[in-house]
Parts: sequence; structure tokens; C-alpha cells
Amino acid sequence: MPFQDFTLIQAPMAGGINTTELTVGAARAGALASIGAGYLSGQAIEDAARAARDGGADAFALNLFIPAERGASDQEWRRAREALAPCYQSAGVALPDDFAELPAFEEQFEAVLAARPAFFSFTFGRLPKPLMEACRARGIALMGTATTREEARALADDGVDGIVLQGEEAGGHRGSADPRGPGRPLADLLDECAGLPVPLIAAGGLMDGADMARVLAAGAAAAQLGTAFLNCPEAGTAPAWREALARAEPEQTAVTAAVSGRFARGLANAWMDERAPSAVAPYPDQHRLTAPLRKAAGAEWKSLWAGTGAHRSRALPVEELVATLLKECRADG
Ligand SMILES: Cc1cc2nc3c(=O)[nH]c(=O)nc-3n(C[C@H](O)[C@H](O)[C@H](O)COP(=O)(O)O)c2cc1C
Repeated sequence: MPFQDFTLIQAPMAGGINTTELTVGAARAGALASIGAGYLSGQAIEDAARAARDGGADAFALNLFIPAERGASDQEWRRAREALAPCYQSAGVALPDDFAELPAFEEQFEAVLAARPAFFSFTFGRLPKPLMEACRARGIALMGTATTREEARALADDGVDGIVLQGEEAGGHRGSADPRGPGRPLADLLDECAGLPVPLIAAGGLMDGADMARVLAAGAAAAQLGTAFLNCPEAGTAPAWREALARAEPEQTAVTAAVSGRFARGLANAWMDERAPSAVAPYPDQHRLTAPLRKAAGAEWKSLWAGTGAHRSRALPVEELVATLLKECRADG
């Protein structure tokens, strides 16, 4: 199934946002639903794919993070842990000695192959050739993520079926291969990548059908929206996060690497101001070091990922949101 069948992609959002209800509702209403599986075990990935199919979603994208080349050295780990002590203390959360490991990419990827989704999308770099071939052999279409023309060119040369062009407006982690890579405005990125021989999927700050129509007119084959879905009742968004979204004002998002060691955009809170830790371990170890704090603390120390359009988010049931977006897009197209 070519992804050109879809003009709207509900973005992968790892960390429990992409519930089965969200996936099934988005698919039923005519979007390509994505399941952010970056923090899931192999078993959880297979379970999520099965639940989506049982609910009636035939085509969906499973999404993983390309692993980092190296983790933190002992010294980086120690420094980062020490720098987080005042953060844990101010939130009244005990700083643990041990931190949970993340699932291994190999295990996750095997589960993706076993689940055979219509699409496999990935972020934070390129997929090694043998893994691309393993997907192809199973009829799984491939979507990579690029934040610069250079990254898009490399993905096109690799032979992916679609490239998510993620502008700096996007909520969540910046999908660059370089954890601290520079962001580019989506409109510039679309301009710079025009002419690449691969369908382009625009992402970043798109909140309504008029935004979608604009990027389609600028050459994108589809639009991928994440923040727009955070307020759907079916999404797994935590209550504190929803409240912060409901209060969001324009210009209220900021970028930080303090949560995970990678740049990510969210509603401004303690991670983005003088309370942020002064030393940060490389991704993904910083993510592991901050996870217990983010889980136990209130909104000040949660990761409230959201794009620059956060203040325009609508609290609509997912099917109604997708239908509205597609209708608005047609009216403006
Ligand atoms: C809460 C949240 C989690 C995200 N998690 C992922 C992810 O797991 N994988 C991925 O490729 N992109 C992830 N993204 C980025 C989206 O794919 C997309 O680029 C972004 O949502 C587009 O910008 P917007 O949020 O302004 O619509 C995430 C975005 C958000 C808001």
C-alpha cells in the first residue's frame, strides 16, 4: 500500500500517547496512524500491532528510534546524576541509584519484522542497509526522518519510500542524526528539498487543515501531525500535560536537551530555565537518568512535549479531529 493513499499521518509519539484507541480511531477516519514504539519491548510492540489490527486498523506505521552510537562514559553519567540531584530534591522525588534500561533496538526491530506493519518509520538517523532489505522482503514500506537537506538527500540515496521533513516547529524530539543538530523552519526545509525523488511528508507546527493545505501546495505529499492529537480523549496524554496544553499561549514552547540528551521541543517548564541541570549525559542515558523524576513529579518536571502550535490544539475525539482536518484541508486546497 503506497503511503500516497494518505494525506494525513497521525505522528508516532512514543511514551504511551499512541494508544490502541487513538490508532484505531485515526485509521478509521482515513489517516495513516503511527505507533511510537521507541520505548516498547519486543513483546509490547507485537501486542500493540495485534491490538490495532483487532480494532480494525489494517494499515499503520510502527516507529522506532535509531540507536545512539555511544552511551555516557562513567564520568559523564556521574556528573549528570550529580547535576540532577537538586532537580530531584526540588520535586521531592528520591534520586535512585539504579535506573531502568531501555529495550534493545535489535529486539524491537525483530518485533517490527514479525508484526509486518504496512509502514516502518524511523527517526534519529539512517537504517542500515541489511535492515532496510529485511523490511523490503516483507513488503514493509520505509519512512525516514530528516531535519536538513543533507539528511533528506542521504535517506533518498538509501532508497526509503518517504521522508518525514521535520521542521524546527515540531513537538517532541528533533529527528536529526546529530542529537544536537540545528533545526530549520519547515517552509525552508520544504523549499530546500523540492526536487528530491522521494515523496516528502511535512511535519512541525501543523495544527489544522489550512496548515496541511499550505504544505501540500508547497510540494509535500502528506502532512504528519503530532501535537494536534495530544488533546484527543483517546490519546494517552497525562492529565497534567493536557492541563498545560489547555493553558498554552503562543510562543510558549522551547527546546531543551536536558531531558534526554537530545534536543526536544515542549511547553516551557523547569527543564528549560535556570532550574535545568548544569551537566547533561548523552542520549539516551540522560533519558534514563531523568525518567523517575518525570514520572513522579508534577508538571514542572514532566516532559510536556508539544510543537509551536500547542496553543491551537483542539480537544476533539480522534475520528472527529481527523474528519475535520481532512475537510478543512480540502476546503483550502
Ligand atoms: C509527544 C510527542 C512524542 C513524539 N514522539 C516521536 C516518536 O516516538 N517518533 C518520531 O518519529 N517522532 C516523534 N515525535 C515527533 C513527531 O513525529 C512529529 O515530527 C511532530 O509531532 C510534528 O510536529 P507537531 O507536534 O508540531 O505536529 C513526537 C512528537 C510529540 C509531540
